[in-house]
Amino acid sequence: CGIAGYVGSRDSADVLIGALSKLEYRGYDSAGIAVSENGSIKVKKCQGRLKNLVDKMDREGKPVGHVGIGHTRWATHGEPSDINSHPHGNKRVSIVHNGIIENYKQIKDFLLKEGYNFVSETDTETVAKLLDYYYDGDPIATITKVLAEIKGSYALGIMFRDFPDVVYAVRKESPLIVGIGKGENFIASDMTAILEYTRNYILLEQNEIAIVEKSGVKVVDIHGEEVSKEMNVADWDIDAAQKGGYEHFMLKEIHEQPEVVKTTITPRISNHIPTFENEGISLDKLSSYNNIFIVACGTAMHAGMVGKYVIEKMARVSVTVDIASEFRYRDPLINEGDLVILISQSGETADTKAALELAKERGAETLAIVNVKGSSIARAADYVLYTHAGPEISVASTKAYMVQVSVMYLLAFQLAYAKGKISKEQLVEYTKLLENIPEQIEEAINLKPACQFAASKLLNADSLLYIGRGLDYALSMEGSLKLKEISYIHSESYAAGELKHGTISLIDDGMPVIAIATQKDLVEKTISNIKEVKARGAFVVLIAAPGVDVEDGVSDVTICLPEANQLLMPMVAAVPLQLIAYYTSVLKGNDVDKPRNLAKSVTVE
Ligand code: G6P
Repeated sequence: CGIAGYVGSRDSADVLIGALSKLEYRGYDSAGIAVSENGSIKVKKCQGRLKNLVDKMDREGKPVGHVGIGHTRWATHGEPSDINSHPHGNKRVSIVHNGIIENYKQIKDFLLKEGYNFVSETDTETVAKLLDYYYDGDPIATITKVLAEIKGSYALGIMFRDFPDVVYAVRKESPLIVGIGKGENFIASDMTAILEYTRNYILLEQNEIAIVEKSGVKVVDIHGEEVSKEMNVADWDIDAAQKGGYEHFMLKEIHEQPEVVKTTITPRISNHIPTFENEGISLDKLSSYNNIFIVACGTAMHAGMVGKYVIEKMARVSVTVDIASEFRYRDPLINEGDLVILISQSGETADTKAALELAKERGAETLAIVNVKGSSIARAADYVLYTHAGPEISVASTKAYMVQVSVMYLLAFQLAYAKGKISKEQLVEYTKLLENIPEQIEEAINLKPACQFAASKLLNADSLLYIGRGLDYALSMEGSLKLKEISYIHSESYAAGELKHGTISLIDDGMPVIAIATQKDLVEKTISNIKEVKARGAFVVLIAAPGVDVEDGVSDVTICLPEANQLLMPMVAAVPLQLIAYYTSVLKGNDVDKPRNLAKSVTVE
């Protein structure tokens, strides 16, 4: 879901639609805008894609004015529908909202008693009506009263009919930035929405209220006191947020991987030795931790799985990987002296952020590996290592995963050295291997035709399995997630050795199994497992390191990876897995970059 707001001289409906289209990647199921037109607030909204909204405005007329707010909604309270779409409000006030208002029921009950009517099932409408209830001609005083009552997470864009030249914005926990242009200003969920107009932006702290006007932006705290804000400059390239000739963002982002890995690791390597000194993490610091926890969601969690294998193997430190939504509610055994690593592309995932807060409460130190500068998780953590993937637009994550994994390797090497498990010479050797990885990723991208062929064999499957051992198992989790996210084919990843304890009963004639075999000491055992499924009728796609000796008939399709050190193989083998998922989705005619039901950034629990 996304928020945009505009105050300037352009046609605000056009600017808002353009900005919202840049936020489409965040996932949504309805869209709407409110524009101040000749002293009243005109709202247009509907279920479905932005295109539906544009068509509706073509039919019914577009609101005309220079001030407005817009929204793409991903349903939480109330189904996707025209009525539940944002903006919400009445003649006097109109708002767009991301997040969840936890106590909306109490507020709604109160307002019902006060004679208010509700048309939607949303928590947002209660905030709009509460604003109206408190409205006394002073927007800031009104907003402040409402902030004192609402609980939960929110980013709000607000318009009052009586102040037709102003957009107000406030946030708590949900992301929102204020873009500063020349003679025009913006609000947006993130910079990609407004990069076309400006790179300058300010960040809002919790409950600071931005008063956005054409001539400038003022920020006040909840006491109405003006706060001075620092101007930030986005270094993201505008081209990076466009498709640049590729059919889909996902394919473009797969192609960007060699470069973004370079951009991420190079500033942290000096003479083939990793260093995090610039980020405040010394060798002594690193060697001081007792246990390490890696907490994240989705693909970021899978990057953590690779990290666990590599860190434990090299640095001999115990690493627990947790799904953020589980970690926070399982009363985890973390203490002072432990390190909790949070991995997040967006830096805004609600569960990951809550896990971070919990880790801090328990006295652990926190390290965020985040792609979006100034995001909530980056700001809240003790240390931050930014990945430099640039904006990732496709909902299915590829390049963000790759750079997260690259940072995991750097950390593992550095930690192993800090703990005295490897010599300086070995540290240099390992780091050199990582420095060469972009070239090997490039070679793996050339496997496109083979992956397309493999995809053509998966198209009609109802269900399939990904199997592997060790690092290959860690990687198979991501391969499986990628495929199911965008192809809508049910898929599971399994530790190859565990298959025979239940899952093998699923195998029947023609069921595809994608086996990954890159780890020399485990290959033979994986091959035995492949034979087990093959004997039961599976259609096997084998992704193997060069030199893996496969007898005839073991696999139906073999994708041979480029040469790379086996420790770093996940970064190379991830590419064909991404490509297989991509082509399967394309061949099925799915919306590759915007898969159904998914959101890019999940800022609700
Ligand atoms: C959503 C996205 C996933 C992503 C996960 C974590 O579910 O669809 O692709 O891996 O959130 O997001 P984060 O921004 O924290 O990495």
